[in-house]
Amino acid sequence: MQIINSNNRIYRALVTLAVITETCLALSLNVTAISAKHGASVLECWQMNTPFVVSTDAGIAGSASAVLGNVTGLTYTVLPAGFDGGLHVAPKNQWVAFIKGIAVVTIPGDDSPNGTATITGGGFGLIFAADTKNVSKVGHITRYPGITETVGIQIPTKDGEIPMHKVLHRGPCSAYEVTGQLGLATGRG
Ligand SMILES: *[C@@H]1O[C@H](CO)[C@@H](O)[C@H](O)[C@H]1NC(C)=O
Ligand SMILES: *[C@@H]1O[C@H](CO)[C@@H](O)[C@H](O)[C@H]1NC(C)=O
Ligand SMILES: *[C@@H]1O[C@H](CO)[C@@H](O)[C@H](O)[C@H]1NC(C)=O
Ligand SMILES: *[C@@H]1O[C@H](CO)[C@@H](O)[C@H](O)[C@H]1NC(C)=O
Repeated sequence: MQIINSNNRIYRALVTLAVITETCLALSLNVTAISAKHGASVLECWQMNTPFVVSTDAGIAGSASAVLGNVTGLTYTVLPAGFDGGLHVAPKNQWVAFIKGIAVVTIPGDDSPNGTATITGGGFGLIFAADTKNVSKVGHITRYPGITETVGIQIPTKDGEIPMHKVLHRGPCSAYEVTGQLGLATGRG
């Protein structure tokens, strides 16, 4: 009985690993980026060059992780419900991970769907802000229209580096483009 159970566990672990390995292959994180073109901020959907791999790090070994590059400093910001961040440029090239609430980024003068990104805090809340003042004259507007506070973690990159990426298209990433990670959750049970 014992042996069957433990064999079963090993079998399930192997199946899980196989599923994750297969799902990992060629799966890359896509993030909405606030970039700049011709001196003005634009929204783009970026696909990271470094794909998910099966981690060998203690504690997460066997799960999928993507290396996103070197960073420096960390700021935890709490924005009250209804806060209006106004028009501004990115202070630095940085990741912003929204972990709670809602942020709406708009590009002044672009009323098309390409000009608005709605980011919900949580598992799909990571964006990259790269419209620094040397590349964007006016910047973008960020509002926090939720009924709760919004929490964002700002993570500037080391030496202001922009992570290697491919621009998938103009405008924010679609739901389809950010939910591919859900496939990495299968295989347990
Ligand atoms: C991060 O920094 C280390 C040490 O300087 C370097 O070896 C590594 O290549 C850097 N990683 C990336 C993704 O740039
Ligand atoms: C703009 O400034 C940022 C730092 O704020 C820097 O990392 C980036 O390389 C600069 N870009 C250009 C095109 O000069
Ligand atoms: C939005 O961006 C797409 C490319 O992703 C482009 O084909 C389309 O023309 C843009 N729409 C507007 C209104 O600018
Ligand atoms: C990124 O976008 C591609 C489509 O270009 C999609 O196949 C993939 O699942 C997306 N990745 C994630 C992690 O959602």
